[in-house]
Amino acid sequence: MSDKSSLPIGVFDSGLGGLTAMSELNRLMPSEDIIYFGDNARIPYGTKSPEIIKKFALQDTRFLLSKGVKAILVACGTVSSNCLLDVSELAGVAVVGVIDAAAKKAAEIAKKGNGRVAVLGTSATVNSGAYETALKKQGITEIVSLACPMFVPLVESWHPTTDDTATNAIVSEYLAPISNDPPAAVILGCTHYPLLTEVIKKHLPESALISSGAEAANALSAFISENGLANRNGGRTEFYTSGGAELFSQNANTFLRNGREINAVHIDIEKF
Ligand code: DGL
Repeated sequence: MSDKSSLPIGVFDSGLGGLTAMSELNRLMPSEDIIYFGDNARIPYGTKSPEIIKKFALQDTRFLLSKGVKAILVACGTVSSNCLLDVSELAGVAVVGVIDAAAKKAAEIAKKGNGRVAVLGTSATVNSGAYETALKKQGITEIVSLACPMFVPLVESWHPTTDDTATNAIVSEYLAPISNDPPAAVILGCTHYPLLTEVIKKHLPESALISSGAEAANALSAFISENGLANRNGGRTEFYTSGGAELFSQNANTFLRNGREINAVHIDIEKF
């Protein structure tokens, strides 16, 4: 069997949100090479039909496979909840999504508290019911799911700060159903949402906020180590976007703030 360990790990999302998963993967496995793809030209995925989400997800997967990846982190809650199996079948390499990992962590925390979990996600994620199914398997029955469709455009185009009035008004409106009686754990079920952590925390100070992307990165990292796939000599990350490369690079630099200059490359995802 050929040694796959030196091959890169592929990570994809509809845009910048997957960077929350990628940066955790990078922290856990700094010697891995990573290929990141953000489908910024076609974001948001969360308002689209399951058929379109699947079509986009398979194109994103084909692009990463063309780069010879050894595993794929589906750093998108919308794809993970709607068509993870389709991605796995096409990929033929290990594929990890965000749902199971985040549900497991939320259940652990909720069981130590009031037993309740809230899921914040895109409309397509909430409509899929995937988090409810995963949470029920973990023994959680008190679940509230809230679609927060404005969060993705806020993160992609606004760079909201903790005190920003418009951001606080939107967050407050979406969280109103749970803010008076907060659940023990709140899953940030879309990978963009951890970029709003500080604002969400202001409105839900007593709940534990769970980054679905970071939990998925944890799960993938464990899989890579346990299966002898870890790279000891890499550490490079390449960024690709279907949108404007310059804008992606600027935004990614702002979000990651890790001192490493990002120079994304534009690709035509329709060719895949
Ligand atoms: N980061 C994606 C997710 O986790 C954003 C979805 C979207 O593009 O609407 O679902």
